[in-house]
Amino acid sequence: MPNAIRIVLVLSLCCVILACQKPKEKVVMLDQQTFGTLPDGKSALIFTLTNHHGMQVRITNYGAAVVSVLAPDAHGAFDDVVLGYDSLSGYVNDKSYLGVIVGRYGNRIGKGKFTLDGSEYQATVNDGENHLHGGAHGFHKVLWDAESSQTDSTQSVKLTHKSPDGDEGYPGNISIEATYTLTDKNELIVEYRGTTDKITILNPTHHSYFNLTGSPTNTILDHQLQIESDSITPVDNGLITTGVLTAVEKTPMDFRELIAIGAHINDASEQLTFGKGYDHNWVLRNQNGKVRKAAVVVEPTSGRVMTVFTDQPGLQFYSGNFLDGSIVGKKNIAYKHRTGICLEAQRYPDSPNKPQFPSVTLKPGEVYRQTTIYQFSTR
Ligand code: BGC
Repeated sequence: MPNAIRIVLVLSLCCVILACQKPKEKVVMLDQQTFGTLPDGKSALIFTLTNHHGMQVRITNYGAAVVSVLAPDAHGAFDDVVLGYDSLSGYVNDKSYLGVIVGRYGNRIGKGKFTLDGSEYQATVNDGENHLHGGAHGFHKVLWDAESSQTDSTQSVKLTHKSPDGDEGYPGNISIEATYTLTDKNELIVEYRGTTDKITILNPTHHSYFNLTGSPTNTILDHQLQIESDSITPVDNGLITTGVLTAVEKTPMDFRELIAIGAHINDASEQLTFGKGYDHNWVLRNQNGKVRKAAVVVEPTSGRVMTVFTDQPGLQFYSGNFLDGSIVGKKNIAYKHRTGICLEAQRYPDSPNKPQFPSVTLKPGEVYRQTTIYQFSTR
């Protein structure tokens, strides 16, 4: 056989072999950098989790905050869909809980008072006359220990923190773990685990403000929302739950079907007046402690969809009513009224004082657990 033909045959064979080989999956490495230095001289870290579809989540161990979430729109263009700050100092000075884990108790406790086993406790009063989101120096203002890991289809950051007995008025030395995992299903999973050495209360939650347009210069009023819920826990004018459940039917709180957030936000309603918009806890249909769908958010222009799953019995939907343009966030954008929404999985507000609500009590030997998932897709 002439040499030229032999070479052509060998080359063709090589091409066939190469074409038949399964392309090797690209390994994406989890990245870790220094985010900045805190006033006490300690360094905060920032982790970048990336999945095989190019979705990317950045997390800092200061406040266990999600700094950015790059999610694709219906045409495959990636944009950042959470509010946050470009630098660590933004998180140090923040008063609006952007992206953080709040706790020990997410949401409000009336006058900050609660009783456990006959002893009365006073948690920090930091919201009018009430306690909100763990107090002045809660989980959102501490540097968590961090450890990252990855598998073929997930990247995770496990954050751990020890809160001492008496911290912000809460009893018991507690250990808390919050693990963020980005999966190849475009899910951001938040898993919590907590233990105590003395009877206490624990109800942490995640506080990202989402704006699925990818540009927080837009309001969230055209985002459509559906919540798997038939009732809310109404509040008084200090946003403390009254202790009853009221049906959403025939009220602006009805999100049983997908509807624009802005459709009824300005309706004449005592609850909307008290909340200055939506700032209420929806009682989820799923009360059995299994992870189930809780809510869906659809942003019609970009086609982005976020589905929230949780094992918690309640979901606080907050429509960013207190944002007023005074916070200047990433890319120098001022966060104006209603430019972000929070969907906070939790037990019900003021539950330590409402024995009829699901309990938030944690005793020595017990383990607090929560799983909440924010899944991104398009339509
Ligand atoms: C609460 C709001 C509060 C906001 C603070 C939300 O979770 O429901 O009432 O103002 O957090 O950023």
